[in-house]
Amino acid sequence: MCGIVGYLGGREALPIILNGLKRLEYRGYDSAGIAIYNGSSISVCKSKGKISKLEKQLQKRKNLSGSVGIGHTRWATHGEPNNINAHPQYSNSNKLCIVHNGIIENYSTIKQKLIKEGYTFKSDTDTEVLINLIEYVKIKENVKLGEAVQIALNQVIGAYAIAVIDNDKPDEIVVAKLGSPLCIGVGKDEHFIGSDVTPFIEFTKNVIYLEDGELAIIRNHKDTLFRKIVDDSKISPTINKLELSLDKIEKQGFDHYMLKEIYEQPKAIQDTLRGRLNISKGIIKLSGIDDYINKFLSAKKITIIACGTSWHSALVAEYMFEKISRIPTEVEYASEFRYRDPVVERNDIIIAISQSGETADTLAAIKLAKSKGAFVYGICNVVGSSIARESDTGSYTHAGPEIGVASTKAFTTQMTVLYLMAVKLSKSKGIISEKIFRKYIVEISNIGNKVHKALSANNEIKKIAKKFKSAKNCLYLGRGYNFPIALEGALKLKEISYIHAEGYPAAEMKHGPIALIDKDMPTIVIATNKINYDKIVSNIQEIKSRKGKIIAIVSEGDKEVKEIADYIIEVPDTIESMTPFMTVIPLQLLSYHIAVMLGKDVDQPRNLAKSVTVE
Ligand code: AGP
Repeated sequence: MCGIVGYLGGREALPIILNGLKRLEYRGYDSAGIAIYNGSSISVCKSKGKISKLEKQLQKRKNLSGSVGIGHTRWATHGEPNNINAHPQYSNSNKLCIVHNGIIENYSTIKQKLIKEGYTFKSDTDTEVLINLIEYVKIKENVKLGEAVQIALNQVIGAYAIAVIDNDKPDEIVVAKLGSPLCIGVGKDEHFIGSDVTPFIEFTKNVIYLEDGELAIIRNHKDTLFRKIVDDSKISPTINKLELSLDKIEKQGFDHYMLKEIYEQPKAIQDTLRGRLNISKGIIKLSGIDDYINKFLSAKKITIIACGTSWHSALVAEYMFEKISRIPTEVEYASEFRYRDPVVERNDIIIAISQSGETADTLAAIKLAKSKGAFVYGICNVVGSSIARESDTGSYTHAGPEIGVASTKAFTTQMTVLYLMAVKLSKSKGIISEKIFRKYIVEISNIGNKVHKALSANNEIKKIAKKFKSAKNCLYLGRGYNFPIALEGALKLKEISYIHAEGYPAAEMKHGPIALIDKDMPTIVIATNKINYDKIVSNIQEIKSRKGKIIAIVSEGDKEVKEIADYIIEVPDTIESMTPFMTVIPLQLLSYHIAVMLGKDVDQPRNLAKSVTVE
C-alpha cells in the first residue's frame, strides 16, 4: 500500500513527481522521497512524514533538476517509518536507485547471501535488499539494467511494483510488477509511471496497465520494451484510453475528499446504473451475468468475499440474494476464507467485492477459490485493477476515484450493483412477478434522488454530532437489512474519529451489550424497518429505561420512535430492501462531523491506508 511515481521525458521531472505523490498519498503516508538524475548523478531527497514534509526538504535542495526521476510515498511494512527506511533506496554503489510497493518475502535469505558477497545495508527494508540484488546480478552477469532486473526478480518471492533508474544509463527507467499495481502513462515523447493513473491524468489519457509478471524498459526517444519476467520473452500490451478528468480528483470546494465523496453518491449511483437499467423495456443489463446466466441459475450457493466496508456491502447482499433471489448466500472475510481451507465445489460462484481492486487478502482469496474451480465475479471500482483482472467476469462500480480512506460512495455503488444482480436473478428464476420486478427497478432508478434528499439532513446531523463528539464509546443497532448498516456506521466512526464503536443486531442487546448502557453511552438505532418495527421500538425503550441516550434514524413520517428517542434523523421512505441506501447516509455524515470537530485527519486517518495491498 505504497504509492510510486516516475517520469521520463523532456520536462523537469521534480514537479511532476511531487504532484503525483500528492495524488497517491492516500496509499500511504508515513514517509516519502524522490530521486532525480541531475546530469551527473542520481540525487535523492526523502523525509519521514507526509509529502508536505518532503516538500519543505526539497525547497532546501538545489541539485534536483533533471528529466528522469522516480518517487515514493510509503506505508511501512519492513522497517519503521524514518528517513533511512524511506524510499528511494540506493544500491551500495549509489549508481542504482529503486522505489518499491509490496513485500519481498525471502528478503532476509537474499540479504545474507549479499552480505557474504560484501554488501552492506543502511536500512531495515526489503527494498534495499532488492536493489542490491539487482546490482549484484548486473555486475556478476555483466548485463544491462533491464536484464539484471529480470534475472533478479526470478530469485524473489513476494509482491512488487518497482521503478529502477541507473546512473550509467539515465535515459531509461525499468519497471516491473507482481501483485501490486503499476501503470504507465504514454505521452508524446514522454512516459509517466504511477501506482494508479491519478499522477498523470492531466498529461495523457493513454495508459498501459502492466500485468503480473511483466517488466518494461522505458526509454527516451525509443520504443518501450515489454518483457515477461519469467523468461524474458517479448510482449505487446494494450494501450487503454482514460475517461478520468483531473477535476474529478480535486476536492471541488469541499473541505475533505470524504465529504466530497459522500455528496457524490447520488451521481455515483446514477453512473453505476447507467446503461444497465432500461425502465421502459423493463430490462436490467449486466453483461457479467448475461454471459454466464446458466451458472447463476444453477448455482447452489453464492459466497461473497471482501474486507472492511466492502464486507458490509456483502452482508447487505446476503439479505438481498436470499430474500429476493432465494439463492443460499454466505459472506466471508477474505482474510479468513484464504486460510481456512474452505469447501469450494467446482463452479461454485464467488463474488469478490473491492473498491481498490488491490486488497491483498481479497486477491489471495480469489486465487484460492479459482484454484478449487470456482467461478469468480468481481465488483471493483478501479478499472484494470488486479482483482478486476483476476476475476472471471464482473461489474465495475462507476463511483469515480475514492480518495478518502473511509469508503463511502464505493459502498453505496457496490450495493447498487448487488441489488441489480439480485433483482435480475430473481426475475430470471421466475421468483418475482413482472409487477414486483417493475416496482424494484423503478425504486432503484430513483434511489439516487432519495440519497440526495437524505443528504439534506446534514445541518441537523452536524448539531447532533456536536453533542456526541466527546463520547468515549458508541453502540450502533439495526435489524434485518440494517444490521450491516449498524456495523458500517460503527466502522466509519471508529476509523476517522478514533472513538470506540460497535455495531450489533438490535435483538442481541439482551445477550450482553445492554450491560454497557448508561447515560454516557450513546446508542444509534436504525429504526426504519417495516417488518419488525415494533421490536426495534421495544429495543429503544429497553435502552431508555437504562438512561441511555438515543439517536434514531427513522423514515419520514415516523410517529412512534419520535416520541421516545432523544434525537431523530429522518430519511426518505423506501422499500424495505433499499433502506440501507438511506440509513447509511446520516451515519457517514455523523462520523464525518464528529471527526472534524475532534480535529482528526479525516481523509488520512492514523495507521490506515486506502488500499491494503499487503497482509
Ligand atoms: C473502509 O472505510 C476502510 N477504508 C476499509 O475497511 C476498506 O473498506 C477495506 O480495506 C477494503 O478495501 P477494498 O474495498 O478496497 O478492498
